[in-house]
Amino acid sequence: MKMKYEKPVILKSKTGMMNPLGNDPVYANKARTEIDGVSIEDLVGEYGSPVFVFSETGIRQRYRDIYKAFSTRYPNVTFGWSYKTNYLPAVCAILHQEGAIAEVVSEMEYDKARKLGMPGPAIIFNGPHKTVAALEKAVSEGAMVNIDHLDELYDLEKVADKIGRPVKVGLRLNMDTGIYPQWSRFGLNLESGQAMDAVRRMAHTGKLILNGLHCHIGTYILSPDAYAVEVQKMVSFAYKVEDRFGFKIEYLDIGGGFPSKSRLKETYHSPDLTVPPVDEYAQKITEALYENLRPGDFPRLFIESGRAIIDETGYLITSIFASKRLPDGRKAYLADAGINLLYTSFWYKYNLEIDRVAQGMSEPSVIYGPMCMNIDVVQEETLLPPLENGTRLILSPVGAYNVTQWMQFIEYRPNVLLIDENGGVDIIREAEDLSDIELRERIPERLKPIFPRVYPRTSAPPVRADPPPYRKLRVA
Ligand SMILES: Cc1ncc(COP(=O)(O)O)c(C=O)c1O
Repeated sequence: MKMKYEKPVILKSKTGMMNPLGNDPVYANKARTEIDGVSIEDLVGEYGSPVFVFSETGIRQRYRDIYKAFSTRYPNVTFGWSYKTNYLPAVCAILHQEGAIAEVVSEMEYDKARKLGMPGPAIIFNGPHKTVAALEKAVSEGAMVNIDHLDELYDLEKVADKIGRPVKVGLRLNMDTGIYPQWSRFGLNLESGQAMDAVRRMAHTGKLILNGLHCHIGTYILSPDAYAVEVQKMVSFAYKVEDRFGFKIEYLDIGGGFPSKSRLKETYHSPDLTVPPVDEYAQKITEALYENLRPGDFPRLFIESGRAIIDETGYLITSIFASKRLPDGRKAYLADAGINLLYTSFWYKYNLEIDRVAQGMSEPSVIYGPMCMNIDVVQEETLLPPLENGTRLILSPVGAYNVTQWMQFIEYRPNVLLIDENGGVDIIREAEDLSDIELRERIPERLKPIFPRVYPRTSAPPVRADPPPYRKLRVA
C-alpha cells in the first residue's frame, strides 16, 4: 500500500506525556471493536456517527454495586436518582426499576419524574428555583421538598396557609467539610447560624414541620473523609433541632458527589489511582452515622449519587473526517462530535479508544470537533498514531451530564442508543433533523414571503432606465 506523503516535522519531546507508572492509559493507543458485544462498525453502520451508546448491563451493575456498599452497612438507605445527571427516560426507568426514587432540581424535572410514573412521595425536590406553583404542586402531591433559601421558606408558608395545614419540609444545609471552594450558594449556612434561624422561624410560625436535612457538598469529591464531617455535622444539627424545637428528623439526605473514573484535566495520575472505591465512602459515611446517631435511631439515609452511577456506562463514538498539521508541529484531527455534545470536555480528559489497531509512531495530537468555533476542542493533547479518515474514536466515560447539558448548536444532535442485557440495541433518543430545530420557531406574517432583498452578486445587475454614457476607448 502506498503511504500518503507527509512533510517531516521535528517535535520537541515533552515531559508529562508519560509518568513513573509507565505509559498513562489515557494516552495509550487502545483498540476497542465493541461495546457490550455489539461491534462499533455495526453501531455506526446502523445508527450513524456520532452516536452515544449506553450499557444497560453497566447501569444496573453499577447501581447494584453502589447500593450494596451502603445497604450492607446501614439498614435504611434509599437512592434518589439525580435527574440532571442524565434524564433520558430510559435511563431513569432503569434506575427506578432498580429501586431508586427521583431527585429533581426544577419543575421540568419534577414533571418528567411524574410523567415517568413516580408518585409525589418518591420525589425529592431540590434546587434553588421552585416557583410557588411548583411548590404547591409538589406539596399537594406529597413530594419531599428541601428548602434552598429563606424566600422559598416564606413561599412554603404561603402554600401552608393556602392548603390550611402545616407542611412537612426538609432544609438544605451548607457547611465547611474541608472541601474548597465551599458550595455555600445553596441552602442555609450551618456555621453562621443561618440554618438554625430558619428552623427557629419554622417553630415560631408553626406553618412548616422540619422532618429532613439535606446537603450536597460538591461533585467529584475525592475525599471520603469530607462525607464523615458532613454526616457528623448533619446529625449533630438534627439533634439540636429535635431537642430545642421538637422537630424529629426522619431523613438525612447527604447528596451526591462520589467521583466516577473520569479524569480531571489537571490531574497527573490516572483515575484508577486517584478515585477511591465506593466502599471507602460507604465505610466513612456509615461509621460517622453510627458514631453520632443515638442508639436505636436510624433515620432514612438518602444518597443522590449521579456521576458515580452513570458516567462509566456511557460512550460516544465519533469519526475522524479530516486531519491537518498545525504550525506548531502538532497533528490535528477533526472529529464529527465536539463540545456541542461533550459539555464535560471543559473539565475532563476522556479515555480514548480507537476502533482498530493503528500502525505507526504515536505523536502529540489534538482532536477538534466539527464546529466552526475555535473553542471546539475535544482533547487538547494526546498521543495518537496516524489515523485515517473514517477511523472511529470511542470516548468514555461520558454518561454523566453530557446528554443533559449538550446543546443544539450548529449541528444536529445524534442518536442515543441503549444496549440491553442480551445485546439488543434500542434508540432511546432519536437523532434530530431540521423539524426538531424549527418545531417552536415562528416567522411573523409580515416577514413573509422570504426572499433575499439584496441580489446575490452573481446575478445580473438591475437594468437602469438611463444608462450612463460610456466613454469610448481609444484604440491605439
Ligand atoms: C443536589 C444535588 N444532588 C445530587 C447531585 C449529583 O451529583 P453527582 O453527579 O456529583 O453525584 C447534584 C449535582 O450537582 C446536586 O446538585
